[in-house]
Amino acid sequence: MSEEHGNLIKSPKQLAIVVFASFFVPLIIIALLMVYVGSGKTKGADAATAAEAANNLIKPVAMLDFKDASGPKVFKTGEEVYKQACASCHASGAAGAPKFGDVGGWSARLGRGYDGLLTALIKGKGAMPARGGASPSDISDYELGRAVVYLAGSAGGKFPEPKAPEVKAEAK
Ligand code: HEC
Repeated sequence: MSEEHGNLIKSPKQLAIVVFASFFVPLIIIALLMVYVGSGKTKGADAATAAEAANNLIKPVAMLDFKDASGPKVFKTGEEVYKQACASCHASGAAGAPKFGDVGGWSARLGRGYDGLLTALIKGKGAMPARGGASPSDISDYELGRAVVYLAGSAGGKFPEPKAPEVKAEAK
């Protein structure tokens, strides 16, 4: 019985061939597969997919947010400004600050209007230092305005987003 199943490998030479083949045949198959997959990519490569492939390649670098001083300024959102410069007082109500989301605390102030509130913030009011203590080079008037909209909006104020300042033409 056992002889019938037969031993395919009958000599050391055959053994060598089998070992050799079992090593290289998968390698060749893998190599062919790689060629096949690679060719699929380039064959279907119209402009769009080529551009996408290029985009994917440069993505890690393209995603980096380089701050180019000479480039267009990226403004902070109201929420970002609030978290950075306002939450320390307005989240807890420290020093009598009207609290974020406290409709009662804000209702009387909202009547002062967006401009009134912004002016109070820029000049400082009561225990609030001018600009909430932020430096103008860090947080611009426009960004303070966005924070006012955000903060007031948390308590029922419906001020429209202020307009982004026009980019000044480069002095030549
Ligand atoms: C050091 C604490 C502190 C910081 C920081 C601070 N505020 Fe205030 N804020 C106050 C206090 C206190 C008042 C209440 C002032 C009053 O009415 O006497 C106030 C009032 C205000 C008012 C109402 C002004 C008015 O006319 O009634 C606005 C709007 C405001 N803050 C916005 C901001 C924004 C936006 C920031 C962040 C850029 C900020 N505040 C940062 C403490 C602070």
